[in-house]
This record gives sequence, structure tokens and C-alpha cells, in this order.
Amino acid sequence: MSEAAVPPIQLLQPKRFAPTLHLALLPNPPYPTITMATTAKAGTAKTSANGAAPKGKAAQPTRAEEPNIGLARADMDDTCGLLNELLANYQVLAVKTKNYHWTVVGLQFNDLHKFFEKMYGFLSEEADQVAERVRALGGRPLGSMAAFVERASLKEETREGLRALEMVQTLLVDEEALIRQLRDMIGRIGDELGDDGTADFVTGLMEEREKNAWMLRALAQG
Ligand SMILES: [Fe+2]
Repeated sequence: MSEAAVPPIQLLQPKRFAPTLHLALLPNPPYPTITMATTAKAGTAKTSANGAAPKGKAAQPTRAEEPNIGLARADMDDTCGLLNELLANYQVLAVKTKNYHWTVVGLQFNDLHKFFEKMYGFLSEEADQVAERVRALGGRPLGSMAAFVERASLKEETREGLRALEMVQTLLVDEEALIRQLRDMIGRIGDELGDDGTADFVTGLMEEREKNAWMLRALAQG
């Protein structure tokens, strides 16, 4: 058989999971373009591709998003507001603690450098739990540094050149303010808003903070 007589190579049928190849082999472009916009148009979804409500309508939780756990929506909103204020304070205190971890100097450097790192880790973990508690109640946790600073009652550290003892004393003052906030929340969320689960959760946080305050108090003795 001469070279010219070799039959042309037959392209195999494209597989279903290879749409790009399939389209490339079709003879007459252009082909219909499938985008998020055309998909949304064809579907019956009432929200846009990013989950937001259509323009002109307020975002309403869908049935799947709305917790049906025996608590009124308004009460859960109040609880989420309190949790967001707590989250803001956790975030401000965590950043302050990390700052001290980086900048502490002096004879106690080694101990305090490690202690501040550990404290930062616990604060970050607890902040995460607070934010997820907000989600469990169908709310939206604060999610920006600007929002944290605006909602927090604790103040960011703006001073420089602090001595190690001043750092410990500052954290103790903040920690005790956080404990008072947590104690106030337990009563309001449990007694007034009827959410025993969140009250119990907040009680656990308060116990952790009380333990840390004891350590700070001990360190503050010099
Ligand atoms: Fe570090």
C-alpha cells in the first residue's frame, strides 16, 4: 500500500465529560455560550449567582437558612448582636496580644513572648467559636477589621515602647472588662432572650477568660 492510500485518521466520538473537545469538533461555530447569567435566567432561583437577593428586594433567609430551634427570630437577632460585640472585643484583644508577643523586651522576654503567643491562640480560637455561634443562630458575624474596631469597647494599642509589666497590666484590665461583658451576657441571653445553649456557651468562655485573668494577675506581681 502506498503512503497516499493510508485512510485518514477517524476522530473518536467525544466523551460526555469533555465539552471543550466536543465543541471544538463541531463544524459550524458560533455555539451557544453558557454563562452564570444564562443559567440563572433559565432557572427558577430567586437569588443571584452570589446568593444575594434580587435588586429592590431585602435579603430574606430562605427556609433552609432559617433555624427552627424554638427561639424567636427577634431574640436570636438580639443574641447575635451581643455575640458580635463580643467578637469585636476578642479580635481587638487578640491583635493587641500579638503585638505584645512581637515587641516585648526585658528579662522576662522568653516567658512573656511564649505566654502572649499562647494567649493569642486561645483568643483566636474562641473568637472563631463566637462567630460560628452567630451563624448557628442564622446571623452574620462581623468580618472586617474596620467593623471590629468600630463595635469593640476595648481599645487598640497605639503606644510604643511599653515595658513588659505595662503590657501585662493592660491585658489584665482588658481581660477583666471582657469577663464582665461575658457575665452580663449570660444573664441577658439566658434569662431575657431564653437561649440557654448560648448562655451555656458564653459561660464556658467566661471560665476560660477568668483562668487567663488569674495568670495575668500573677504575672503582674512583677
Ligand atoms: Fe511568633
